[in-house]
Amino acid sequence: MSIPINNLYEGSDIQKMEKIVINGGTPLKGSVEISGAKNAVVAILPATLLAQDVCRIENIPDISDVTIMLKILSQLGAQVKMINRSTYEIDTRGVNSYIVPNEHTKHLRASYYMLGALLGRFNKAKVSMPGGCWFGVRPIDLHLRGFELLGASVSIDNAMVNAEAEELVGSVVYMDTVSVGATVNVMLAAVKAKGQTIIENAAREPHIVDLANFLNSMGADIRGAGTDTIKIYGVDELHGCTYSIIPDQIEAGTYMVAAAATKGDVVIKNVIPKHLESITKKLLDCGVEVEEYDEAVRVSCSGRPLRCNVKTMPHPGFPTDMQPQMTVLLSIADGTSIVSESVWDNRFRYVDQLLRMGANISVEGKVAIVQGVEKLYGAPVGADDLRAGAAMLIAAFAAEGQSLIENLSHIDRGYERFVEKFRNLGADIQRVEFPDPEEESAESVG
Ligand code: EPZ
Repeated sequence: MSIPINNLYEGSDIQKMEKIVINGGTPLKGSVEISGAKNAVVAILPATLLAQDVCRIENIPDISDVTIMLKILSQLGAQVKMINRSTYEIDTRGVNSYIVPNEHTKHLRASYYMLGALLGRFNKAKVSMPGGCWFGVRPIDLHLRGFELLGASVSIDNAMVNAEAEELVGSVVYMDTVSVGATVNVMLAAVKAKGQTIIENAAREPHIVDLANFLNSMGADIRGAGTDTIKIYGVDELHGCTYSIIPDQIEAGTYMVAAAATKGDVVIKNVIPKHLESITKKLLDCGVEVEEYDEAVRVSCSGRPLRCNVKTMPHPGFPTDMQPQMTVLLSIADGTSIVSESVWDNRFRYVDQLLRMGANISVEGKVAIVQGVEKLYGAPVGADDLRAGAAMLIAAFAAEGQSLIENLSHIDRGYERFVEKFRNLGADIQRVEFPDPEEESAESVG
């Protein structure tokens, strides 16, 4: 049974009226299934534009970033068929446009992957500058430089990125900074370019490898993904395929830290333990127990976590997308920890919300000094961005008393059915509609 994509998108406006209500203090216990990886699927969906056939993609997470990406594809002219909640068939043969307007790109950082995919398909792309989480300046100079090295002329006017090439020709692309997005975009533009492309100082994240595996299953010739040197031999055509998205490393890490922060005992299923190594290592440093199985990890913590230092790095280092969650755990650890953010300029905005809950953290630029306190106390807080929202959930579960969390649309971008999953672990969590204060005050004035 297939549901037209439009029905999936309507009605999301009510989310801004909703809040999460959590009564904290309950240790999380039981098991949870991890969904497909957000940062893999938002790269793989645009890649379907490069296939001259139908792609069946499985283990797609039911999150709003996916809904928006599928909407963009369908508006470009693709046929998007929902087979079930986590499986779609995408046929891009009918795509007849290379233009992606601001309407959707403003909500989704990864919309800029449409640049590499449309350039690779049509030698032409016109995509509005992306939106997404704000933690400082997020330039795209490395993406654009990569397109130019492949022979495209690039310009930005009226917040639209224009890229066009007579012919795309392979080149050596050295990334001044390790960049997930730029590595993805150059891969997408290069798979059908003439000759060989080498990406030096490439990102090595699991979602880079997943994209390469997807493209290779369509007939591309990509070698070295997962290392800092990726070689791409251009091919003339890519066919359809059936592919299953890898489990989400960051969703898994979020549940691991939630188990530890609530002194719980949780089995996190459908994971690739190798992808979680840096998170596991840090939890072990904090005195948390982590047992590894083939496709699961078990996390338990009976006492107060120990302090430890964390420095975020590109994969295989400790992921920046786990920094807010880890800081929550350290905020109730026994001792003082130092958290250094080496990827983003300003990813500690959420600390203000933790201070409202009784945390003792001071931020100096890209370093946070976290003095562990005995406990946090429930409070009304907001989610500043996706992973900050996840951190607020963990803090509320660990805190004594009731917390209210707003701006849920951030959390819905990357955590499938998180209320249901946490409730199944014993959390006292509700998603409640509240009257909109703006509307209420307007009525009272009227
Ligand atoms: C991806 O963002 C992820 N998003 C982010 O996850 C993640 O934090 C980040 O990679 C790092 O792992 C998606 O995959 C959709 P980058 P991206 O390019 O690609 C600088 C989440 O929570 N840079 O690897 O935008 C940049 O300023 C999100 O799921 C340039 O200077 O990150 C940063 O300092 C949040 N020029 C560093 O590189 C460029 O052209 C790494 O950024 C591009 C990046």
